[in-house]
Amino acid sequence: MAKEFSEKLDVPEALTFDDVLLRPKESTVEPDESDMTTRVSANVKLNVPVLSAAMDTVTESGMAIAMARHGGLGVMHRNMDIDAMVAEIERVKRADELIIRDVVTASPDQTVREVDEMMEQEGVSGAPVVNDEGEVLGIISGTDIRPYLEVGDRDEVREAMTDEVITAPEDVEPREALELMYEHKIERVPLVDDQNRLMGLMTMAGILQRREFDNAARDENGHLRVGVAVGPFEAERASAADEAGADVLFIDCAHAHNQAVIESAREIKAEIDADIVVGNIGTREAARDVVDFADGVKVGIGPGSICTTRVVTGAGMPQITAVSQVADVASQHDVPVIADGGIRYSGDAIKAVAAGADAVMLGSYFAGTDEAPGRVITMQGKKYKQYRGMGSVGAMKSGGGERYMKDEQDDEDLVPEGVEAATPYKGTVESELRQLVGGMQSGMGYVGAGTIPEFKERSEFVRVSSAGQQESHPHDVVITDEAPNYSPDGN
Ligand code: XMP
Repeated sequence: MAKEFSEKLDVPEALTFDDVLLRPKESTVEPDESDMTTRVSANVKLNVPVLSAAMDTVTESGMAIAMARHGGLGVMHRNMDIDAMVAEIERVKRADELIIRDVVTASPDQTVREVDEMMEQEGVSGAPVVNDEGEVLGIISGTDIRPYLEVGDRDEVREAMTDEVITAPEDVEPREALELMYEHKIERVPLVDDQNRLMGLMTMAGILQRREFDNAARDENGHLRVGVAVGPFEAERASAADEAGADVLFIDCAHAHNQAVIESAREIKAEIDADIVVGNIGTREAARDVVDFADGVKVGIGPGSICTTRVVTGAGMPQITAVSQVADVASQHDVPVIADGGIRYSGDAIKAVAAGADAVMLGSYFAGTDEAPGRVITMQGKKYKQYRGMGSVGAMKSGGGERYMKDEQDDEDLVPEGVEAATPYKGTVESELRQLVGGMQSGMGYVGAGTIPEFKERSEFVRVSSAGQQESHPHDVVITDEAPNYSPDGN
């Protein structure tokens, strides 16, 4: 007998962030000492379980550099052509480089004026002087050049350069290089082979910067980690990203539980070295279909702050239930889970981890920071930055339609699943991330867990009524001073 339609209403309940709270437990944990180390994919570990969203108002190289320096991961959007994407990946990989390989050099017979202009253009304050064989003859800096600019800017570099150059072998330890720099009061040391040919350059700024970011997410060569979004059918983009050194490729689709998407993602995975995270999904059946080849899975069908998927399509899955269902399956296969979207507060982020996520991805939380693309705008005396859904009309017109399985279409044919908005300006990623991670660590403290795996195991939820939700927020008061980690609407 055919199923009764009315049986469809015997429905399971699906919950989201505000429906649950973590049940407090006995604790011996000091929250700030909680270890936040996690994995986002089979081979990529992070010290901070946070990713910035692959959106054109959130993550390009500036955001990716900041996220990785502070221990998280930026996932760059794909509303740019392949060459631009490769350049953005290279920008992240070159930041904080300890040994600069692509050294700006001067030749001894250039004029002082030429070298001055070249250094200005390249944004460097000094350059080794090398002959045609690549041998280091000297070094020239702004200080050497300045006296010549007044009187002899046509003089040759060989006359202006310092020819007693302090060099070091290629395999010099950063500590030794730093000692050399202090001893000789210099800021850069050319690295040379046994025939005095230039192999690279170490700078004092580079070494000190590396020390400052001791929590950073780095690959085996010490470069910052970076993720990029690729379309499910973009094999060419995937290969280019892989070759450029991206650490994780995120198959970027609003509904990845689609057999054509899965087949194509599987083929892309077979062709590349980088890890592949497949998303977005939101059910245990979807997880079952991808865990055999995915290095990670990403969860979120419609929870995002700028999403209209649920109201436009009538489909979706409240995020705590979605994460828990996917994690049931993924954890059995040791595949990390990323909870993507809907996180307004640090409390939401740690609830997602309790539901089974290994890391969280946020868009609106970071869109208002300095490192997000776009400029600050002022409206009625308040500062904002633009934030738009990748399924909004504007983002789809800039090339983002494929995520929603929409080909390039006339404007009036576009069926958006997101809105274009503004979000309050917030300052630096570093301070936002500090609040987010600090709040997550405190949440772990309430449950008595010192590591993420322990927290996932030990945490339990209680269900909250709507009266309970109201009680959770500040109530019966007028807030007089803004807190750095709270506003009533989550911004
Ligand atoms: P939050 O809540 O952190 O969400 O701002 C960011 C996530 O939302 C997803 N996203 C969209 N979902 N329509 C959607 O249904 C859209 O236009 C859209 N744009 C982004 C995406 O997963 C992102 O990481």
